[in-house]
Amino acid sequence: MSNTLYAERRARVAAKLGRDGIAIVPTAPERPRNRDSDFLFRHDSYFYYLTGFTEPNAWLVITGDGRSTLFCAPKDLEREIWDGYRLGPQAAPEVLGVQAAHSVAELDTLMPRLLENRDAVWYPFAIHDGLESQVGGWLNRVRARVRYGALCPEEQHDLCAVLDEMRLIKDAHEQDIMRRAARISARAHVRAMQLSARMLRDGRDVREYHLDAELLHEFRMGGSQYPAYSSIVAAGANACVLHYRADTAPVRAGELVLIDAGCELDSYASDITRTFPADGRFTGPQRALYDLVLASQDAAVAATRAGARFNDPHDATVKVLAQGMLDLGLLDRNKVGTADDVIDTRAYFQFYMHRTGHWLGMDVHDCGSYVEPTQLGEVSERKDPLSGEVIRNRPSRILQPGMVLTIEPGLYVRPAEGVPEAFHHIGIRIEDDAIVTADGCELITRDVPVRADEIEALMRG
Ligand code: GLY
Ligand code: MN
Ligand code: MN
Repeated sequence: MSNTLYAERRARVAAKLGRDGIAIVPTAPERPRNRDSDFLFRHDSYFYYLTGFTEPNAWLVITGDGRSTLFCAPKDLEREIWDGYRLGPQAAPEVLGVQAAHSVAELDTLMPRLLENRDAVWYPFAIHDGLESQVGGWLNRVRARVRYGALCPEEQHDLCAVLDEMRLIKDAHEQDIMRRAARISARAHVRAMQLSARMLRDGRDVREYHLDAELLHEFRMGGSQYPAYSSIVAAGANACVLHYRADTAPVRAGELVLIDAGCELDSYASDITRTFPADGRFTGPQRALYDLVLASQDAAVAATRAGARFNDPHDATVKVLAQGMLDLGLLDRNKVGTADDVIDTRAYFQFYMHRTGHWLGMDVHDCGSYVEPTQLGEVSERKDPLSGEVIRNRPSRILQPGMVLTIEPGLYVRPAEGVPEAFHHIGIRIEDDAIVTADGCELITRDVPVRADEIEALMRG
């Protein structure tokens, strides 16, 4: 990968800092899992966005004059024998396009010098434990030199505000990776569906972890580095637990399986949910609820386009679901009234309690403000009908081409008075990833079917 892309991003950041500003971006720390064994390292997304560099123990400094300095692990033959290749500061300028590079061992010595005579320091707030006090320590060292004529930065700014806006719009390079990640994940879902039907046909004992293993296999075979988040493989009633994980529960014919899983490829996440009958055939009540969730997703997809608001797909979803809940008898008209009443009183929350999407990018719940930045002053207040709390709302974000979001409506039916028994314990979510375009959106996850008939056909194969 050419390093021009990262250099351009750093130049855009530099332009925001002001001539005498300085930005500091560490990568993620390594975290111990247990004795002598760390969790698999995942670089910090902001750091990677600006460097393309995946080694741990590294820092980037950008100054308002457009110069970038990297601190990274020094070459060390003995450590490299144990831990693997390191780029090292000598090779870094050529490989990464930074203007200077030093050993990370010099960070504490050199940072006060880099901070001297700057007016403002920018770094990501509330992301890295201890970073605020570390910066404070460096600033103290600069202050100790003001008697000799040094200037110490008087302002501190949150660099996330700058980087979040940049990351919110995915460029062609990012979109291309996200399409490839989506294709790998879609294939993994197809394989998990087929495995479930095949194992049940063969009379085998199927467990949630078998399907999880199939997902992981396909992710890695596709070149993905790891899952983008902990996969959910939820059989039967487990689907009604929103943050369930893949566990040991049996996958039984006649029940649904909800899989929410996506791979991370070259630092970009995909995020797909499919719900399918374990043996490949929907029952009548399952199909009725499934088709309702799908219709609500269709409505959300139709509402996703440049110029629409981030909330529009959610509102479209809720409208379809509210009417469907009445039509299917999940909610009693005599008690809750019309679909508009169901929406006004949030009665639908009993079965649909999450939002319909989120930004997707390097992080599965990607950064970026959900509020329209040009309308920050337009605050409205309303009382939440369920909690009674006063909620202050600002106009939701206007969608632009290149934004990427998920569209993921669901229904989760726990047994309760008045809820038809046929629907008890059914949990359904359908989730696709969408790139916003000028006149609609591109669904990049549709290599795995979503219509009930198509899922049944696939699982028969
Ligand atoms: N897999 C996380 C989510 O759907 O938001
Ligand atoms: Mn999601
Ligand atoms: Mn998901």
